[in-house]
Amino acid sequence: MSASRPIGIFDSGVGGLTVVKRIEELLPHEEIIYFGDTARVPYGTKSKETVTRFSVENVEFLMGFNVKMIIVACNTASSLSLEFLKRCFKVPLIGVIEPGAKGAVDSTRNNRIGVIGTRATISSGAYEKAIKKLNSNISLYSQTCPLFVPLVEEGWLDEDVTGDVARVYLAPLKKRQIDTLILGCTHYPLLSYAIRKVMGKSMLFIDSAKEVAKEAKGILAACGLLNGTRQRRNTKFFVSDEPDSFVSMGKRFLKRRITAKKMG
Ligand code: DGL
Repeated sequence: MSASRPIGIFDSGVGGLTVVKRIEELLPHEEIIYFGDTARVPYGTKSKETVTRFSVENVEFLMGFNVKMIIVACNTASSLSLEFLKRCFKVPLIGVIEPGAKGAVDSTRNNRIGVIGTRATISSGAYEKAIKKLNSNISLYSQTCPLFVPLVEEGWLDEDVTGDVARVYLAPLKKRQIDTLILGCTHYPLLSYAIRKVMGKSMLFIDSAKEVAKEAKGILAACGLLNGTRQRRNTKFFVSDEPDSFVSMGKRFLKRRITAKKMG
């Protein structure tokens, strides 16, 4: 398998750009093919069968670029569909749940962790399962935050309304004396400021995008698949709906201009 082949990344939409950003930082010589399923976002409110069907199609699309690895950047798709995808495809597939869980287990000092995510991610119990596998003495407290995704999509990252919504959602977690909080949705790292204002300065945030980038680097290195060239590589973006809003959100996420091609 050639190390110069690209890494494929997919998400339900724009949120997976938080993963692109971390991969570009940690693996600057890798070419990335990103697919955002903007026509069918959100995944977080859909059933396992539907999310799995979409995820299979997204992987098939990325396989067309002869990718050497696929990162399921979406927490919802990772929670509901990763195991099925791994059974169907030979290419190495990694999701964001296990790296995020590991990051949290390594960080907590009082064994009390919180996780926030979409309804589908939280009700799947995927973070609980991954954390219990690593350390059964840890208490995990979960909270769904369904309004966070539309707030990010609207670009309302630190408006008053975002702070109000964060206060309501996070109040139950504040009472649990957690010292570590997993931002278990691609969009949430963009709300770090608003979330930190509620949870306090000392709270450790686990950004699953950062953790999955470390995991991807480790796997590629172990397989001898890290790209050896010293050149900075390209990232190509594809979406399933008109690219305009993806492109303008992308500029905000990545702090540079991007172009994206509509597929299908
Ligand atoms: N990308 C999804 C996730 O990380 C959030 C947006 C959605 O609901 O599709 O769970």
